Amino acid sequence: MNILLLGKNGQLGSEFQKILPKLGTTTFLDYEELDLRDLQALEQVMNDLKPNLIVNASAYTAVDRAETEQETAMKVNALAPGVMAEVARKIRAVLIHYSTDYVFDGKKDAPYTENDATHPLNIYGRSKLEGEENIRQVGGAYLILRTSWVYSMQGDSFVNKVLGWARKNKNLKIVNDQISNPTWACELAKATYLILTRYKTNLIEEIGERHGVYHLAGGGHASRYEWARQILANDPNRTEQLVQTLEPVSSGEFPTPATRPLFSALDCSKIAKTFDIRLPDWRVSLQKAMSE
Ligand SMILES: NC(=O)c1ccc[n+]([C@@H]2O[C@H](COP(=O)([O-])OP(=O)(O)OC[C@H]3O[C@@H](n4cnc5c(N)ncnc54)[C@H](OP(=O)(O)O)[C@@H]3O)[C@@H](O)[C@H]2O)c1
Repeated sequence: MNILLLGKNGQLGSEFQKILPKLGTTTFLDYEELDLRDLQALEQVMNDLKPNLIVNASAYTAVDRAETEQETAMKVNALAPGVMAEVARKIRAVLIHYSTDYVFDGKKDAPYTENDATHPLNIYGRSKLEGEENIRQVGGAYLILRTSWVYSMQGDSFVNKVLGWARKNKNLKIVNDQISNPTWACELAKATYLILTRYKTNLIEEIGERHGVYHLAGGGHASRYEWARQILANDPNRTEQLVQTLEPVSSGEFPTPATRPLFSALDCSKIAKTFDIRLPDWRVSLQKAMSE
């Protein structure tokens, strides 16, 4: 199989770099090789490589910055996925794309299913939803996997932020009214890989038959406050922590340029039914991620 991975340096992309080579010949790209704002270059690269499988782990994920960089967010998150879908359809390739819980407004009081109405509250969420719609309009053999609160132990993830804050502050305030599913990038990549390996002998037909939007996120849900509490408890270097109190506060105490949905937990039963795939409980994954 000839595989193209976009966004190789991101949280999810880095995990895919480790496992996709088991499936075939791989080309891994990110900013430095291909700026996705250049849609013609994207089309050219895809036509030159003619992959059988495109895994799009790239995205403009700076939720607050997107409010002032709308054009960039729209190009990367909405237009580029549309181009990927068009070329994929032409060259008969499978497209795996990721979307977000931020397509919802967070006003529901139970986890969101794929049938729930979307209503993004910020530019990032709007750009990701347009990306979904652009792919859907083209059709073909695609999976749009909506996930939420993705973290890894690299870079600027929420986990690393909390660990950093805990080393500089005695009192930490964390919002307790934003609730979703913490999702370990490693498990998300592995679950995707499982689907791909299961159907690898006839990928285009098998994914084509099951194409659509699926929710795929860590099991259970939590507030950012509960998540932070577990991060501190699992810290392998707890003696380095200065923090003495962790205080739950409301989002109103930390105004941000982008409004975030309050309750955006995802119900992942459709993917469990269709592909027999479930991610472990978020606490189990967090413990594993922080002990590796
Ligand atoms: N992170 C979350 O909490 C979260 C939640 C829900 C859904 N998701 C979705 O899950 C997927 C993976 O997220 P992630 O957290 O792994 O993202 P990430 O770590 O931000 O990685 C995204 C990658 O895309 C690259 N990229 C951004 N703009 C680009 C451009 N113009 N041209 C080429 N590459 C570009 C980034 O490069 P730079 O780093 O250099 O910008 C980065 O390497 C995305 O579809 C995201 O929307 C994420």
